[in-house]
Amino acid sequence: APMSELFSPLSLRDLEIPNRLAVSPMCQYSCDTDGLPTEWHRVHLGSRAVGGAGIVMTEATAVEPRGRITPHDLGIWSDEHAEALEPITQFIREQGGVPGIQLAHAGHKASKRRPWDGNVPIAPDETDPDGAEGWEVLSPSPDAYPPFDGDRPAMRKADYDDIQTVIDAYREAAERSLAAGFEIAEVHAAHGYLLHEFLSPATNRREDEYGGSFENRTRLVREVVEAVREVWPDDKPVFVRISGTDWLDDRESWDIDQSVRLARDFAQLGVDLVDVSSGGLHPDQRVPGGPNFQVPLAEAVREGSDVAAGAVGGVTEPAQADAVVRNGRADLVLVGRQFLRDPYFGLRAAGELEDDAAPHWPVQYR
Ligand code: FNR
Repeated sequence: APMSELFSPLSLRDLEIPNRLAVSPMCQYSCDTDGLPTEWHRVHLGSRAVGGAGIVMTEATAVEPRGRITPHDLGIWSDEHAEALEPITQFIREQGGVPGIQLAHAGHKASKRRPWDGNVPIAPDETDPDGAEGWEVLSPSPDAYPPFDGDRPAMRKADYDDIQTVIDAYREAAERSLAAGFEIAEVHAAHGYLLHEFLSPATNRREDEYGGSFENRTRLVREVVEAVREVWPDDKPVFVRISGTDWLDDRESWDIDQSVRLARDFAQLGVDLVDVSSGGLHPDQRVPGGPNFQVPLAEAVREGSDVAAGAVGGVTEPAQADAVVRNGRADLVLVGRQFLRDPYFGLRAAGELEDDAAPHWPVQYR
């Protein structure tokens, strides 16, 4: 049977990823309020490992409690979290997949109700329908908070100590992720969350060394990446997810040229793959959408820098995913919603692409 490109291995440092199909990080909002994984996470992530994904990436996993989007997000701010995640990474590896963790801080988009509870901010003196309390959120520039989902009564402008706390939290989260058995650490710097808020001039109006010039706006993410790389072993890859553009062409914002320039800095810092998403920063964004809509952004990063690139967004068909890799547009394809609809998307893709080297149905299901 013909070899597909989608099911060819990808080597990054000493890690061999069995194929180029990854489960994109997707919040499940299914913890109690302690950030610990539940049976839901075990079954959700485990099913997709059985389903043939080369990488199973966790949802945005908070490096500190105030960095959660909702009170029900997954976290990795204590050793107890790492211990609870360990059986999940072990199961993913037993199925032939590579477990990855997305390390996240939601910045001024934190402390919200879950999507199915209305998605609106929870003030510190309020609770969500489950009785979970809100908290004060961290922002680079509270005065530049975009008008998302109503008022934000409690925003704290990140001072020097807050910034150090965030960097240290990322470093410790990476150490714990390693102890939990993850083989890829992905820094979440996309979608209008904390690190992206610092990157974009649309949300960063600081006048200290963390705002203003490109160098200053990118300082925090570079320091976070350095901290993670410091503790993440040399034989294992680090990914960063960015928004390739804010889709705000009518104002000063973050765009693909800056993304390419940042990817070159990331290469110097030992980042192995940039996972290129887009948007999420501002409600005025004009996102084109449709099949492959972010692939050109991944392609630009791949062409313009020495890092590998991951493409994500609107990929639903096996042949489509294969073509992205075959045509040299990206090194890895991350699939989100299609993997929610079909946990066995990888096995179906292997069948459709008629690739013998691709993952097989587990013996239990043959
Ligand atoms: C997401 N997405 C997302 N992205 C991310 O970087 N961290 C996250 O935790 C989440 N959470 C999340 C939850 C749910 C339910 C969805 C549907 C999406 C975005 C996701 O990873 C992906 O980039 C987009 O869904 C686009 O890819 P698809 O769905 O078109 O394949």
